Amino acid sequence: MKTIVWATLSANGNYAQSSPENPPKKEALDDFAKHAMAAGNFIVGRRTFESMAAGGGGGPFADLDIVVVSRNLESLPGATIAGSPEEALNYLRHKGHRTAIVAAGADLHNAFLSQGLADELIFNIAPVLEGKGLHLTIDPNHYSFKDIELLNANPLGGGVVQLHYAVNF
Ligand SMILES: NC(=O)c1ccc[n+]([C@@H]2O[C@H](COP(=O)([O-])OP(=O)(O)OC[C@H]3O[C@@H](n4cnc5c(N)ncnc54)[C@H](OP(=O)(O)O)[C@@H]3O)[C@@H](O)[C@H]2O)c1
Repeated sequence: MKTIVWATLSANGNYAQSSPENPPKKEALDDFAKHAMAAGNFIVGRRTFESMAAGGGGGPFADLDIVVVSRNLESLPGATIAGSPEEALNYLRHKGHRTAIVAAGADLHNAFLSQGLADELIFNIAPVLEGKGLHLTIDPNHYSFKDIELLNANPLGGGVVQLHYAVNF
């Protein structure tokens, strides 16, 4: 099974955050929906799932396999709970999925990246600058780097540019 880490970044390289004053760009959200629907699933951290549910949830995602990663929760309506990134991937693999979409947030993305669990990255760069913010990292404690392969670069409209990479961990 292929694991795709999907994220929106700000133009100055932060892991983009959203708020009522700075909502996610429609083009980025539409792209997330496209990938989640094609894969039939997505994996999210507990906090991101709670904010999605507060925003209405359901809708086009109601039929998808949604996996919420949490060390504490035991059950949640409309989603499967996994205790770790590995457990989330094992669940989707056993359900027969060919691709897993890892949709956020920063904590969970960084867990996948630092554990070498991504095969591909999709970064949508939004036309916004942020101040002090969140960052994606392959190692929260030390400087390190990893070369990755650009597969595609594609404008999505609305000033959002998509960068698609392959990763060889
Ligand atoms: N840029 C984007 O693409 C994007 C997309 C969506 C959201 N966001 C932003 O992301 C932010 C929310 O992200 P966040 O980092 O606060 O939260 P998050 O990653 O959505 O959720 C964090 C929670 O996930 C669980 N978790 C994370 N890593 C885990 C691990 N290795 N093993 C087991 N459980 C784990 C824990 O849940 P428990 O506490 O229950 O154990 C943790 O408290 C918001 O600011 C939102 O705007 C950005």
